[in-house]
Amino acid sequence: MINPSNRVSGVRSYYFARKLKEIAELRASGIDVINLGIGSPDMLPPKEAIDGLINGLSEDRAHQYQSYYGLVELREAFESFYEEHYQVSINGADNILPLIGSKEGIMHISMAYLNPGDEVLVPNPGYPAYHMCAKLAGAIPRCYSLSSDNNWQIDLEALKQQDLTRVKILWINSPHMPTGAVSSTEELQAVVQFGRDHNILICHDNPYAFILNDHPQSIFNVCTIEDNVLELTSLSKSHHMSGWRVGALVGKSELLDPVIRFKSNMDSGMFKPIQLAAANALGVKQHWYDTINTEYQHRRTVAYQILDSVNCEYSTDAAGMFVWAKVKGESGEALSDRLLMDVGVFLTPGIVFGTQGESYIRLSLCSPVDLLTKALNRISTL
Ligand SMILES: Cc1ncc(COP(=O)(O)O)c(C=O)c1O
Repeated sequence: MINPSNRVSGVRSYYFARKLKEIAELRASGIDVINLGIGSPDMLPPKEAIDGLINGLSEDRAHQYQSYYGLVELREAFESFYEEHYQVSINGADNILPLIGSKEGIMHISMAYLNPGDEVLVPNPGYPAYHMCAKLAGAIPRCYSLSSDNNWQIDLEALKQQDLTRVKILWINSPHMPTGAVSSTEELQAVVQFGRDHNILICHDNPYAFILNDHPQSIFNVCTIEDNVLELTSLSKSHHMSGWRVGALVGKSELLDPVIRFKSNMDSGMFKPIQLAAANALGVKQHWYDTINTEYQHRRTVAYQILDSVNCEYSTDAAGMFVWAKVKGESGEALSDRLLMDVGVFLTPGIVFGTQGESYIRLSLCSPVDLLTKALNRISTL
């Protein structure tokens, strides 16, 4: 037996890596599971992206290693995207690092900035990668609790009462996953000021800005690119390209530099046709976002009916591609297990996102209305 590293020993594989295996086994045993758990968009990416990928295959040097900094075309496309959708001026050459999905960016930031003993403030509930990547980097994740009483917003006054001397990074995420809560401009401003006051790197993870959200915001709407602030952006949700693995890290060049030093020793660039396709996708006009959001609205109506039928409570003004709902009379995990075993419908138990999610369940809008309706009909037989 060769012992794994201590780093890996304290970490479990990602929840969905385990759960999807279980669902595949149930399906193999003949159970027709409807998976309403995962946020992997089922609709096609923009046609411009697909054409860009196909045409990119015949581009000069398409099959070779690509630049560690991403193609100029892709960086410029992110620059224009920030200008058009957020009215934020950034420089594609200095302020943008294309990534193979934003999840890898969470790991890269952690590896580039954290030393053993450093502390990282992570939201509870929140995306598990913030916590796990901090641990893998040898640092100490320190959860800050979010609750519905405070509209799932960070309580900065409570944090200020604590010893923050070892805190190096604060992760925030608006629209927030899993709750769908959106921070106001003032709330984001206060977080940035908190980072300045305590010399903490603010990392804003922003993959859901364009899903069921009337006012997409960048963190750079409330601070300058010269602040100690990083933003992760992703095409996974906004452009239905989760499997293509494209995102970017945005910030001042001094902050990107350590990340590039780490990342360039890990991968060897991104496949050129995918970068060209992503550049095309970033150029789509408002009509794209309006069309996908109309569909997500239809889906959400059925999602609400599903949640009503199991007596859950939810907010109707949340953003993002999930509905986060409070379960009554049992834990979210008990309801999730019951629905999977009794009617073959999978919803994600909120505990996956932290202890504050224990009484909750998360329903993904990444299934068409007819499948959601099928799930509703099954649940109604309970
Ligand atoms: C909050 C949050 N951040 C980051 C990611 C990762 O997205 P990507 O596909 O860009 O790696 C996800 C994916 O579900 C997410 O929910």
